[in-house]
Amino acid sequence: MKVTIVGAGAVGASCAEYIAIKNFASEVVILDIKEGFAEGKAMDLMQTASLNNFDTKIVGTTNDYSKTSNSQICVITSGIPRKPGMTREELIGINAGIVKDVASNLLKESPDSILIVVSNPMDTMTYLVHKTTSIPSSRIIGMGGALDSARFKYRLAEALESPISDIDGMVIGGHSDKGMVPLTSMATRNGIRVSELISEKRLNQVAEETKIGGATLTKLLGTSAWYAPGAAVSSLVQSIACNHKKVFPCSVMLDGEYGLKDLCIGVPIVLGKNGIENIIELKLNSDEMKNLRESAEGVSMTNSLLDI
Ligand code: 2OP
Repeated sequence: MKVTIVGAGAVGASCAEYIAIKNFASEVVILDIKEGFAEGKAMDLMQTASLNNFDTKIVGTTNDYSKTSNSQICVITSGIPRKPGMTREELIGINAGIVKDVASNLLKESPDSILIVVSNPMDTMTYLVHKTTSIPSSRIIGMGGALDSARFKYRLAEALESPISDIDGMVIGGHSDKGMVPLTSMATRNGIRVSELISEKRLNQVAEETKIGGATLTKLLGTSAWYAPGAAVSSLVQSIACNHKKVFPCSVMLDGEYGLKDLCIGVPIVLGKNGIENIIELKLNSDEMKNLRESAEGVSMTNSLLDI
């Protein structure tokens, strides 16, 4: 299994690191436009192999797409990250051109690959890849919900004073501060609805903290986060590579599911060797459905800024 990651920045590099540590891929190629940068990250990571017990070969390249050929999965992290105070949507102008070129270059070398889009504004960048390539919808996946759900579980565990492994929960909707829809009514601690364990007020606070999870980190770090985004991508890559068919909320093209059409937004999917194996339609309550619809309106508004 060969995986390519475009963008050797913090997200791309931690994604490569987590994939290597999980030891399921034979090769990870990291590509960046900055001279020598991906080669340096790859060499540094390879020097952790004997310490972290992995056999994955990590290769870096400065913009040489021939090195990526025959990848089964390609991850697009390239573009600029947001700075404190910025929304993900403000990145659209610069990132759209980059993502479009990167997707086209990747598919020339690996026409059968599954693309995972991470660059922001992620739902709109995923939509752009749909509109500017001709590969099937099942092979274009936006990574946002897996990360937002991990942040949701972190906040729930904090509120419940529980280990995170006890917690299950999901965030659907757009990957934006206003667009995320944390499904508080369905979140559980070992099968017990969390709504039975903490007050509605505290649960709403958890939802709000989750929605600004990325912005909180951007403020603290001075740039956007990388460990949890990298780990989230590696989990999606592993489910595809190993055909685990795990369920993750991902940004996918909808064609009538949830009453939505012609946009990419986060909903639960089964992720296996073919990419999207199935889109799951949850029975949402009226508030959750209303929030998802509003989120979709926001995503569509950002999509309308694309020059396609
Ligand atoms: C985040 O939320 C990178 O958008 C990503 O941290």
